[in-house]
Amino acid sequence: MKFLILSVALQCVAWSHVAAAAIPSVSRPLVIAHRGASGYLPEHTIEAYWAAMQMGADFIEPDLVITKDGVLIARHEPNITSTTDVRSRPEFSDRLKRKWVDGVEEEGFFAEDFTLTELKSLRAVQRVAFRDQKFNGMFTVPTLVEVIDAIKNFEYQTGRHVGIYPETKHPTYFRDMGLPLEEKLIATLMEQKFTDPRRVFIQSFEVSNLKDILVPLLKKNGLKIPLVQLLDDRDAQPYDYKKAGRTENYGDLIRAASLKNFVATYAAGIGPWKGSIVRRKPATATDLNGDGKAEAVEQLSGETLPVIADAHAAGLLVHPYTFRDEEVYLAVDYGRPEAEYNAFFNAGVDGVFTDFTDTAVRSRALFQSMTGGASQGKL
Ligand code: G3P
Ligand code: CA
Repeated sequence: MKFLILSVALQCVAWSHVAAAAIPSVSRPLVIAHRGASGYLPEHTIEAYWAAMQMGADFIEPDLVITKDGVLIARHEPNITSTTDVRSRPEFSDRLKRKWVDGVEEEGFFAEDFTLTELKSLRAVQRVAFRDQKFNGMFTVPTLVEVIDAIKNFEYQTGRHVGIYPETKHPTYFRDMGLPLEEKLIATLMEQKFTDPRRVFIQSFEVSNLKDILVPLLKKNGLKIPLVQLLDDRDAQPYDYKKAGRTENYGDLIRAASLKNFVATYAAGIGPWKGSIVRRKPATATDLNGDGKAEAVEQLSGETLPVIADAHAAGLLVHPYTFRDEEVYLAVDYGRPEAEYNAFFNAGVDGVFTDFTDTAVRSRALFQSMTGGASQGKL
């Protein structure tokens, strides 16, 4: 880790005009660094993305929200209270608000109430209490442009090509307040000349911003960037559906007929919650890693749904989320995180979102050495 942090410091070499590489050196199934190397460093920081690229990520994943002055920044949600030190900054105490985000009321500090200059004065913190807190206060909140710069810079220094997998967060929420994300995202990718469809996926949990906004926007600009429909647990609803008074939920969207006749008409892939493919149920708390703490509290229920095969039959890629090393997230059946990756690789997923790029890359190498990369097509 010390080496990674040192390298992060060294990466401040300015990006000079190196020709964008034509072919990304990706190796399937893709390893997508979820919020950067977020298992180790505060999420959505250049340092976390850089560490993930060094660990071998094929894509890095920035979630996108927007500032008061219309700049796309990498944060998981508009409420920045748990991922920055804003609460300890008296100069911003007047920004504490209660707001409704996608039908849920919450209190906190919201990105759209800060200018970029103000946000840049904040420092990122680790949101997960049991992860390393020692980097709190060290790193800034990056803009999308800075994330793309980091990828170009990494390529310049290493010759290795990494892609970007931005997610439009709460797109209806932001559009309703006059700060739409999609036009800004496409304009930024075009300005940065980062539109190679082999190096970009755009994802969203909402449907209409993909289908009705991004599809025409891409077409108008002659772009072929693939879109990915994220799918939450089956009972949940895309917020745009909820707002429109529609009754369909993700359980409806993930059915074979819907994937084929609907999702595949506007998306190139799906990003399903892994628990909606392999169902889990409560288990007796178990100590899987021998540290004396019994923290694994789930087991596989035995119910596995044919989502991967159905999606593939519809011509859709499948990138499930989110794979994590810690025992608290593991089903007891797996025992080790590598076994969970192996199960999903063996089932034929096309990529995985992970907080621990190093574990995913190692697991993929193991899977490829054992099988030659051929999946059995079943979980
Ligand atoms: O985008 C895939 C995954 O990141 C979805 O979950 O909540 O971490 O954005 P979330
Ligand atoms: Ca995401």
